[in-house]
Amino acid sequence: MILVTGATGQLGAKAIDHLLTKGVRAADIRAFVRDAAKTQSLQEKGIDLRIGDYTDYDSLINAFTGVDKLLLVSSNDRGAVENRTAHHIEVIKAAKQANVKHIVYTSFVRKPTFDQTAIASFQNAHVHSEKFLKNSGIAYTVLQNGIYLEMIPIFAGGNVAETGVILFPAQAGKASWILRDELAEAAAHVLTTKGHENKIYPLTNTESVSFEEIATDLSATLGKVIRYESPEVEKFESILKKAGVPDLYVGMFVMWATAQAQGALDVVDNTLASFIGRKPTSVREFIKTIYG
Ligand SMILES: NC(=O)c1ccc[n+]([C@@H]2O[C@H](COP(=O)([O-])OP(=O)(O)OC[C@H]3O[C@@H](n4cnc5c(N)ncnc54)[C@H](OP(=O)(O)O)[C@@H]3O)[C@@H](O)[C@H]2O)c1
Repeated sequence: MILVTGATGQLGAKAIDHLLTKGVRAADIRAFVRDAAKTQSLQEKGIDLRIGDYTDYDSLINAFTGVDKLLLVSSNDRGAVENRTAHHIEVIKAAKQANVKHIVYTSFVRKPTFDQTAIASFQNAHVHSEKFLKNSGIAYTVLQNGIYLEMIPIFAGGNVAETGVILFPAQAGKASWILRDELAEAAAHVLTTKGHENKIYPLTNTESVSFEEIATDLSATLGKVIRYESPEVEKFESILKKAGVPDLYVGMFVMWATAQAQGALDVVDNTLASFIGRKPTSVREFIKTIYG
């Protein structure tokens, strides 16, 4: 039995779809969800559901009993980043108690110098979770996922085609943007093939791309010039605030832009390509699909 957490979220739902595509029977998949109202699609696929929450230990034990492999989709808690670590630790403790044999955990890709960058505390939540997992005695696989390609339209702005400008303080920094669906496919590969115990995999694209290059690709796809401007962080913050963007999102945008400017997202690796058996979707292909 394979259990997937975050199954009503985007990555978890896609991972279940890939498990089914790879021939895992619906009866051998269990979905851990916190909101029964979001489960229609899972029910239609015949997936066994367990309702619960990372903060409700009993619900975790109930869900994990009889499970061999668990895909722990990392928490997206919007409060203190330590909440995420606490959620992951509860899941790992409950998995241990319920005799789960193998946990596959979705972490984030990082460089050794991550603690000198804007995403240090975000990364530390993963570092502590990974450490707890390794020390749990359960076989583990850490999927150090790269930043989603789907973040590009969010960072570039919903009306970039009208304004003709991407305003994002990432300077000339590059990121190895990767499609969420391909990360889900890689997770399903790890869950359905042998030899992944006690391994850590960086899962990124095979090339890194800057916003200058994204602007060039957008220009080609839209048939008009899209400029890239990397403003000072303070100016960027004040533009977002004036536009009514909530402080939480202003902070997140600044954090990711600064991390990219610092080179923290520029990690390329071939592991994901080998897991999915093809070259991952490039930024150029993604932009053509979204904006073409
Ligand atoms: N690599 C990247 O660029 C990137 C970008 C964004 C996020 N992430 C990380 O990757 C994870 C998966 O991404 P995603 O796109 O699938 O995010 P998502 O769509 O927001 O899904 C997150 C899932 O976690 C579940 N969850 C959150 N708190 C929970 C709790 N206390 N108990 C049980 N379930 C809980 C959510 O449940 P509900 O469905 O009920 O909300 C949701 O299903 C995120 O949670 C985040 O940690 C990575």
